[in-house]
Amino acid sequence: MSEAVHAFFSQWDIYRLCIEHNTLFHREVGNILHRELQEQTGPFTLLDLACGDAELTAAALRGTKVAAYTGVDFSAPAIALAAEKTATLACPRRFQEQDFTHFLRDNKEKFDLIYLGLSLHHLETATKREMMQHLRCAMADGGSFYLFEPILHAGESREGYTERWSAAMNGPYDPFPPAARDALREHVRQSERPESAEEYLALAHAAGFPRGDILFTDPGNFYSLFRFKARAA
Ligand SMILES: C[S@@+](CC[C@H](N)C(=O)[O-])C[C@H]1O[C@@H](n2cnc3c(N)ncnc32)[C@H](O)[C@@H]1O
Repeated sequence: MSEAVHAFFSQWDIYRLCIEHNTLFHREVGNILHRELQEQTGPFTLLDLACGDAELTAAALRGTKVAAYTGVDFSAPAIALAAEKTATLACPRRFQEQDFTHFLRDNKEKFDLIYLGLSLHHLETATKREMMQHLRCAMADGGSFYLFEPILHAGESREGYTERWSAAMNGPYDPFPPAARDALREHVRQSERPESAEEYLALAHAAGFPRGDILFTDPGNFYSLFRFKARAA
């Protein structure tokens, strides 16, 4: 399963098309994240899990009080791009070429902020539950965890989601070459295991995040950005 995800993201060009055509709402999510990071009044550390090329996070971190950046991804090309994109940040940077599930299981550090974008949904529900617990342990007191993921409608099956997603490709994905459209459809069919927003909120609550907010959902109800606070205030 993670081999298929790894192979898909090694074809970075296809994912680049999604970013350039904003089919995954990176622009909106990036703007919200930027505002959130700007509101941090003191220096903060950020853990970017499944960082990809870190384009979204590097832009969101610009002009903020970031004191240290850690990027984790199991794709070597992604890590190389992330190192380039974050080069202008005036803080120490660390990159780890590793499966983020292994990273989290071994991790002993605390981070003020964590961002995990478009990757948790590749895991089975039980592993998502386990990762939520590790994520909670990795949070500094008062910190926030931002999770950006595809979401099921209430009562929707994974197959129902795949059909809904494939039907909605018409229009936004028209400029993509046919082979890229086919590869994306196959990736969603084979590797995506979305949960409903309620399930993500419940998993986080069970892991000890007292508060969860949905900061963004796209007009088609395919993706949501969640913020889980490590303290109730
Ligand atoms: C859809 S991109 C998301 C990139 C970025 N987080 C964003 O929000 O745009 C997925 C990235 O996560 C990485 N990835 C997926 N599953 C992973 C895992 N289990 N461990 C580490 N990296 C993973 C892929 O290599 C790819 O670079």
